[in-house]
Amino acid sequence: MQHDVTVGRHEEQEQEHQATLLPAPGEIGPEALRSLRHLRVPTHRATSDTVAGAYPFLAEAGLGGEGVYVGQDAWSGGGFCFDPWALYRQGVITNPNCLLAGVVGKGKSCLAKSLATRSIAFGRRVYVPGDPKGEWSAVARAVGGAAIQLGGGSANRLNPMDPGPRVGTVDDLQWATLVRIRRRTLLGSLSESALGRPLSSVEHTALDVALDEAIAESPTPTLPSVVDALLEPKSSRPGATCAELARDGRDLGHAMRRLVSGDLAGLFDGPSTIVFDPSLPMVSLDLSQIQGADQLIAMVMTCASAWMEAALAAPDGGQRWVVYDEAWRLMRQPALLARMQSQWKLCRGLGIANLLIVHRLSDLDAVGNSNSEARALARGLLADCSTKIIYQQEISEGPRTALELGLSSAEQAQLPDLQVGEGLWRVGNRAFVVRHVATENELRLFDTSSRMTVQLNGFPET
Ligand SMILES: Nc1ncnc2c1ncn2[C@@H]1O[C@H](COP(=O)(O)OP(=O)(O)OP(=O)(O)O)[C@@H](O)[C@H]1O
Ligand SMILES: [Mg+2]
Repeated sequence: MQHDVTVGRHEEQEQEHQATLLPAPGEIGPEALRSLRHLRVPTHRATSDTVAGAYPFLAEAGLGGEGVYVGQDAWSGGGFCFDPWALYRQGVITNPNCLLAGVVGKGKSCLAKSLATRSIAFGRRVYVPGDPKGEWSAVARAVGGAAIQLGGGSANRLNPMDPGPRVGTVDDLQWATLVRIRRRTLLGSLSESALGRPLSSVEHTALDVALDEAIAESPTPTLPSVVDALLEPKSSRPGATCAELARDGRDLGHAMRRLVSGDLAGLFDGPSTIVFDPSLPMVSLDLSQIQGADQLIAMVMTCASAWMEAALAAPDGGQRWVVYDEAWRLMRQPALLARMQSQWKLCRGLGIANLLIVHRLSDLDAVGNSNSEARALARGLLADCSTKIIYQQEISEGPRTALELGLSSAEQAQLPDLQVGEGLWRVGNRAFVVRHVATENELRLFDTSSRMTVQLNGFPET
């Protein structure tokens, strides 16, 4: 009997205990799937490549919040910020240069202008060494900078042989040597652009002598004095008499004459009438009034950029964007490419981030023959851009772009479908699709299609 009582109490206790615990499969009804016990699954280890296959919808963490706000990361929905100097500091990219490629009217210039103007708030300055459409002038003035207009009846004249601001640490002799090298490089580029071919060795000598004669005449020589000295040299060199120098430099002298008294007369043929103020937040060179072939534009840009570069080389210039909008027009000029390449190489030392805007990567193949030095220079520029931003591309360009940039098939498939303002950003080894968000004021200021959207009654389309 005693035994039965004990058994009965034990069952009672068991029932009480079970009533306070959850059932083994968890609660039923509305409380389902909530359990006091932690879910335990067996540990599974795999490489990140394999895990990415198992969880394909995970988005990139982004580049962090440092730098200017660009827009929305289309994959994660988060904000996307970009600052080439910060990313270089963090080791994400190996150089601050950027390439921006996309078909006409998809918002390349708009993005470049946003990046540039928003960076000014971070203490950066912006230089546009050649603006063939004149669309940066309003932007430069709006941010308190200057737009220098060349041609079209403007009285502005630049002397590309100006020595530029002197670097404090060099003595007189070093400074004179530095300035001579700069002038000689400029004359070399100009001559090659004017002739459309590399200089021969005797032409190099003729140019050297002409430069020395022009410097002997005036400490700040002008292009006409160099052209005069080329056509009528007054001195000789070992191995080259005066008459031989005149014969060797004749072709070159006549080609360069174009800059002095031909279709570019009045632009670069005398002392500068304006000074370049490197302290301004933005300076652009408006070339929209210069009509003519790309070769002419390239020669103007060579002169104008030499004039600007002297100021860019100042070591205390701070961090600057140098924007080459419509660069595809310039890429065909090997002489200009060589100048750009030296800018690219110097970028880290001088705190410069170059932004090169083209339509498609095959623009880089428009220069020279397949094995030419010029083609190698153009390809070198692409290789030296750690950040590549690809806006909409024609379908035919897809495989080429994917191969160059190492895009996945999914990334390549997106290229033809990108909308205005959307781009595939390849930053170092990482990729993002970013929707550039432009404010209303920015769009009004940056607008390049107002003439297309104006209705015949004169009111813009709403
Ligand atoms: N992020 C954006 N949001 C809204 N509209 C935009 C955006 N980007 C560009 N646009 C519109 O697209 C128009 C063309 O842009 P933009 O001039 O920048 O194109 P582009 O690619 O530089 O063209 P092109 O190759 O002819 O120079 C602008 O005037 C603007 O109205
Ligand atoms: Mg544009």
